[in-house]
Amino acid sequence: QRIPEVEQLLQKMTIDEKIGQLNLLTPGGGVATGEVVSENVGTKIKAGQVGGLFGVAGPDRVRKAQELAVKESRLGIPLLIGSDVIHGYKTTYPIPLGLSSSWDMDLVEQAAQMAAREATADGINWNFSPMVDIARDPRWGRIAEGAGEDPYLGSKIAEAMVKGYQGEDLAASHTMLACVKHFALYGAAEAGRDYGSVDMGKIKMFNQYLPPYQAAIDAGAASVMSSFNDVDGVPATGNKWLLTDLLRDQWGFDGFVVSDYTSLNEMIPHGLGDLQAVSALALKAGLDMDMVGEGFLSTLKKSLEEGKVTETDITNACRRVLEAKYISGLFNDPYKYLDSKRPEKDILTDGNRALSRKLATRSFVLLKNHNNILPLAKEGKIALVGPLADSRENMLGTWAPTGDFNLAVTILEGFNNVASGATIQYAKGANISDDADFAKNVNSLGERILIDERSPETMLQEAVDLAKTSDVVVAVVGEATEMSGESSSRTDISIPESQKKLIKALVATGKPVALVLMSGRPLTIPEEFDMPVSILQVWHPGVEAGNAIADVVFGDYNPSGKLTATWPVNVGQIPVYHSAKVTGRPAPESGEFQKFRSNYLDVPNAPLLPFGYGLSYTTFEYSNLKLNKKEINQGETISATVTVTNTGNYDGEEVVQLYLRDVVRSITPPKRQLKGFQKVMLKKGESKEVTITLSADDLKFYNAQLEFASEPGDFEVFMGTDSDAELSDTFTLK
Ligand code: IFM
Repeated sequence: QRIPEVEQLLQKMTIDEKIGQLNLLTPGGGVATGEVVSENVGTKIKAGQVGGLFGVAGPDRVRKAQELAVKESRLGIPLLIGSDVIHGYKTTYPIPLGLSSSWDMDLVEQAAQMAAREATADGINWNFSPMVDIARDPRWGRIAEGAGEDPYLGSKIAEAMVKGYQGEDLAASHTMLACVKHFALYGAAEAGRDYGSVDMGKIKMFNQYLPPYQAAIDAGAASVMSSFNDVDGVPATGNKWLLTDLLRDQWGFDGFVVSDYTSLNEMIPHGLGDLQAVSALALKAGLDMDMVGEGFLSTLKKSLEEGKVTETDITNACRRVLEAKYISGLFNDPYKYLDSKRPEKDILTDGNRALSRKLATRSFVLLKNHNNILPLAKEGKIALVGPLADSRENMLGTWAPTGDFNLAVTILEGFNNVASGATIQYAKGANISDDADFAKNVNSLGERILIDERSPETMLQEAVDLAKTSDVVVAVVGEATEMSGESSSRTDISIPESQKKLIKALVATGKPVALVLMSGRPLTIPEEFDMPVSILQVWHPGVEAGNAIADVVFGDYNPSGKLTATWPVNVGQIPVYHSAKVTGRPAPESGEFQKFRSNYLDVPNAPLLPFGYGLSYTTFEYSNLKLNKKEINQGETISATVTVTNTGNYDGEEVVQLYLRDVVRSITPPKRQLKGFQKVMLKKGESKEVTITLSADDLKFYNAQLEFASEPGDFEVFMGTDSDAELSDTFTLK
């Protein structure tokens, strides 16, 4: 339905003004994620050549920009003000992969709401989030920015984030437009190398990779960002099938599409022609706004004159941008986000920091608890060692451009805050990496790997000496912030050698050792996992890192996080994920190698840690799985109930998971697929019946004709603590 105010405005606009609305610029000053930065931004705004800006924040700065548009351009059209608010604005919370490990949709929504309140207080009205790209290759650095490998969980998280950012009313001053990215398939780049090519069949695409984008659109996301990669041979930014046939015609999306940073211009090296050709192609494909590259601004008029695009193409794109401004309420009041009192009132409040601390504790995953070393008592002598134990600059994690690591709580500080009764002594023990070339690459956005002036041997000895005189050792090891994220792919995703040596030496002291493992991706840790250590995976936890880690290490919160991406044994297993196909020659269940079966000579097929995995300080037992029906008709629902008992010594939360296997169908089914989960709190000794209901859609899949339909036959339901859940029952769809 057309918006009359927008239609009236379109009537008044010249073709240049319409093209101007399609231009998104950044005046610089922030992190430029490409080689181009915008020039003469003020002059262009006044000339009506800019539809939006990003990299500008703060009521005063935004007001200056907005005034140029509103007071000095001919038609006074306000600007969209975008930003990458990926995991918190100033109150940074865990990286998205960590947040997803909470499996707590209320908390995810609250996190997004907090981010929106803070960002809008600083004048931002459009967020380049959520990133919903499914990622099954942990070599890819941007796995840190998404919700992991699973389309069902990814869809729930996409929905919660869109709701959190956009709220009930986009015209309210504490909500902002969401931008779903990166459309599409950006997480499936060949070899996990960022910006790489994607080659994927439609069955996999529709069943495994597209659902989270669609869920975000269904939740009302106002905008979409196209991805850098190609899809079926055409770069996403100029892909008509993707941006129009699927997104608009099939899914009914009526918002606007923005390119990624110069992804329009990058269609030239992709091999699709010169700037004029690729700009015309992208407009015709359904791209509405061009980020930074100015291909639209500099070529569309010529293309119009030469008949390569039509005025209707330009008007349609312009209309979508204007409609977004209209629904944000910017035409009513262009300055509505610009209250100079709001930053102090809404940003980095105690309440926000408390929420960030809570989110972080919920994101941690207990991978192993040898001899129940954790939780630690708040007494005795604790050796806190490792290159990340006192490293403020690595606490926020990747892509927190609006956060400030100087505000982060280190782990040493957190331990002292939470366990003041204990004697906590610190030694660095090792560099994050001793490899100077690697450190230089990682440090290209700022010093995250600081190579100590002391020799590695001296540092190691100091840590070992400290360990020997302590009751227990906590070693904080893993990845620096910039070892994951954009353009931070790795072919070796193990703990760097310098830190491996430290871990071995600490274990050799015979003292109890707990590893606090920090990373932006699943790591390969088979060696460390075999050692007599406890391992708490904490991702990059955000501004409250140290306090949150201490809360869990000292037992004030019992960990409940579950992995949302499988942890491989080694890089050679990648891709390894829970919903893989079975194949005609499956490997034996035992994991033993068998000739002429689908397995490896050197390692079993099973990953080190499956999707959904995560321990607690207590233990849970599952029993008595029952279905409420043995047969259902098409369109009906079915419920599965299981009894969960807390059999350990602590109160705790458990994520009860339901997986489904479609036993016989017209296209090969995945081994099993996540189709439901519920997070429940169980007191020590308590039992609860947990019921999860499968909807008719949960039984459907995209078939060879790409119809979303279910097929009659048997289904097997599994319920339990992770994707290896063993309790099962079957039902038949008639
Ligand atoms: O939003 C980001 C995107 O995820 C990667 N390229 C740059 C954009 C704007 O900063």
